[in-house]
Amino acid sequence: MSNKRVYSSLTKKYVMSLMGLFLITFLFVHLGLNLSVLKDLGSGDYPTFNEAAHFMATNPFIQVFQWVLFAAFLIHIIFGLILQFQNWASRPKGYKVKGSAEENIFSQYMIHTGIVIFIFLVIHFVNFFMVSKGIIPGIQHVKINGEEMENLGKVIVDVFHNGYYVTFYVLALLLLGFHLDHGFQSAFQSLGLQNKKYGPFIKGLGHVVAIVLALGFIIIPLVIYFTK
Ligand code: HEM
Repeated sequence: MSNKRVYSSLTKKYVMSLMGLFLITFLFVHLGLNLSVLKDLGSGDYPTFNEAAHFMATNPFIQVFQWVLFAAFLIHIIFGLILQFQNWASRPKGYKVKGSAEENIFSQYMIHTGIVIFIFLVIHFVNFFMVSKGIIPGIQHVKINGEEMENLGKVIVDVFHNGYYVTFYVLALLLLGFHLDHGFQSAFQSLGLQNKKYGPFIKGLGHVVAIVLALGFIIIPLVIYFTK
């Protein structure tokens, strides 16, 4: 491989890692907000969640942030695909780098889990984002503290009363956990921040991040479905 190509691959890995870590930060915020829907289950108007979602949907800073977020997803996906195809094209079959983050069992399936997460995101957008923005009509409105707003909490609860969606979300979120488990430590390695001293800590932290996010998101459809 020419020096120019190696440099370009390293730059892509670097940017992809930064985007991945940024997306993990978004997931923690997204999880925190979504969990609040469980607080008012059965109330019908989900005041805690709807108020927070309404703030997010009307705050100009968050609106700009949303475009940054979409760009980060797009860059992460496109660079991931390019790097994977380059990898397949340049490596002999079965080749593995010993002692690197690639030895994680989930590492061989990053592209596969990534593709499932992408399909999840498309369905997720149809389920929630397009409904909340009125692209798909039908969202109801509620009055909370004198202010009229979309009842997005009810949209979530309605979706998760459907067993097929619950099954799909649980399976996809498990794969998200696998993707994050390897992705977290791999990002630190690509950024040159993995070494003998901090390596085990970063690996452990990756496990915690993956488990907290996957289980945290999985709890939502399960609790809603089984308390209907
Ligand atoms: C049980 C799990 C989840 C629930 C209940 C949920 C709920 C929602 C809702 C209601 C929206 C629309 C927000 C709005 O338009 O105001 C949304 C948007 C979004 N979700 Fe999720 N989500 C879940 C998991 C995830 C996961 C795992 C990811 C990423 C892998 C994700 C990525 C996004 C993105 C990128 C958006 C659009 C940006 C935004 O509106 O904030 N979500 N989600």
